[in-house]
Amino acid sequence: MKGEGLLMKKIFAFIFAVLITLTFTRFNAIAASAEENYKWYCAQCHGNGGKGDGINSKDLPVTPRNHTNPEDMKKLTDADIENVIKDGGAATSKSTTMPPFGSTLNADEVKDMVKHLRKLCKC
Ligand code: HEC
Repeated sequence: MKGEGLLMKKIFAFIFAVLITLTFTRFNAIAASAEENYKWYCAQCHGNGGKGDGINSKDLPVTPRNHTNPEDMKKLTDADIENVIKDGGAATSKSTTMPPFGSTLNADEVKDMVKHLRKLCKC
């Protein structure tokens, strides 16, 4: 019966390793693309195509940024965009109607979103 404890330890170590692997694979599989995140979290204000014409835009006191306008978007650095996505309009002296997404999107998703916006404005 001496070897049994060791065997159990090995079995537990194996199960643990499998669980860790599964967790990471799963997280990768469910990490949403920037396009999907944009549709879920941004489009209701900024519009599906990013023109600032989402369903809520008419009711907002400030017009959401037109993400397809290179003149406006060129003024923002990648760091500016990252900040406004993470901390919202208030953190960057913009309208508070631009909500913070720092606890909704993870760091990678925010970076992907910046790239997505650069594609929309082609700038
Ligand atoms: C509830 C409506 C709303 C939602 C949802 C929303 N925004 Fe905005 N957003 C705004 C408004 C309004 C502004 C304009 C703020 C201003 O100019 O003062 C804005 C501005 C911006 C700007 C420009 C900021 C600047 O300094 O010019 C960026 C970039 C932006 N939003 C990205 C996003 C992204 C990415 C998402 C989704 C993750 C998102 N927004 C979701 C309303 C919204």
